[in-house]
Amino acid sequence: MFPKDRYASAAMRHIGCTQCPRRRIQVPDRNVERVLNALGVAVFVVDADMCIQFHNGAAISLFGHGLRGKMLATFVPNKRCIRTVEEVIDGRSSASVSIKLQIVAPTTFRMTATRLVPILGQEDDPGVVVSFEDISHVLEAKQMRSDFVANVSHELRSPLTTLGGMIETLQGHARYDPDAMTRFLDLMETEATRMARIIDDLLSLSKLQSVERYAPTERVELPPVIDAVVKLLAPIIDNEKVTVEMDFTPDMKPVTGDPHELGQVFRNLIENAAKYSRNGAVIRIEGCNDSREPDMVCIAVSDEGDGIAPEHISRLTERFYRIDKDRSRDKGGTGLGLAIVKHILMRHRGRLQIDSEVGKGSVFTALLPIAAGQL
Ligand SMILES: Nc1ncnc2c1ncn2[C@@H]1O[C@H](COP(=O)(O)OP(=O)(O)OP(=O)(O)O)[C@@H](O)[C@H]1O
Ligand SMILES: [Mg+2]
Repeated sequence: MFPKDRYASAAMRHIGCTQCPRRRIQVPDRNVERVLNALGVAVFVVDADMCIQFHNGAAISLFGHGLRGKMLATFVPNKRCIRTVEEVIDGRSSASVSIKLQIVAPTTFRMTATRLVPILGQEDDPGVVVSFEDISHVLEAKQMRSDFVANVSHELRSPLTTLGGMIETLQGHARYDPDAMTRFLDLMETEATRMARIIDDLLSLSKLQSVERYAPTERVELPPVIDAVVKLLAPIIDNEKVTVEMDFTPDMKPVTGDPHELGQVFRNLIENAAKYSRNGAVIRIEGCNDSREPDMVCIAVSDEGDGIAPEHISRLTERFYRIDKDRSRDKGGTGLGLAIVKHILMRHRGRLQIDSEVGKGSVFTALLPIAAGQL
């Protein structure tokens, strides 16, 4: 085994600084440099003047070329960061701060500065190693989790509050009024069903996410699956006074999938087309082998509804996102349908495409991979 100081000296070379050429610093040798270049975290070694003596590849990706010999503050114009590095240069062994830097977009980093250990018998400045770890995704995930909990609580609290109010009324003046009792019990049933749907949909989503890495393997003919969904939705289709037309090209290939999950996809897309269309509108379901991607089948569900403004389109598959909350609620929606569609299609290695024009209508297209051996 190497004694600590010998190992350290074996791993370090000496270079002068271009901005302050008298200063000499130990920098990592080739193998240590390779290890540092393999890291995704930006690493710098600075001298006592905070001049950059060494940096790894991740530092170039983040701050660009031409770093060596320049002052750290030129690339990291953040007072807290510079003050922290100064504290370490002045004697602290290590210090860490979270800072926000504008790297194309505002990005949050955990900056850590650590004093390197001087090598015995050498007077060179050991330098300070400064690393920048991008922690934006961790913060985003935290934010998403707390937004999700807030959304779920809000969505469950509204029907619960309504139920509480109705129970109070039934215990009070409506107690001896059979008409009011019937009306309130019906409303209570609606709210309880709504809560049960939210919970069922959330459980479906969580189950889907847990198996997302494993693609389904069955060979599925889509026309019978979609036909069964349309039959199942007959009461909603009648109620919304819309008609459904189906057209599948005769050469449309089967797909690889799970027929139950694919049924859920088309159930939500067709139900949405019916719910968000005007009375008398036509819903078209067209299926064919995709002409642009030869290994995919595409099924388009088009409606003649109000259409969707561009700013909403990318957000429609977010959990609980609804353009018009009251309209969705009136139709018994939870705002989880398209989130479930997106996750099912992702598990199938397919995707959802949404095209819409305000005032004209929308087209929701599910793209799915053709079954193995059918190409
Ligand atoms: N075909 C469509 N035309 C216009 N808007 C649509 C259409 N499909 C979906 N939307 C909008 O997208 C929102 C989200 O749809 P999603 O299917 O996720 O929820 P939902 O239909 O409101 O509830 P759920 O699917 O749980 O019954 C809807 O509330 C609606 O505002
Ligand atoms: Mg829906």
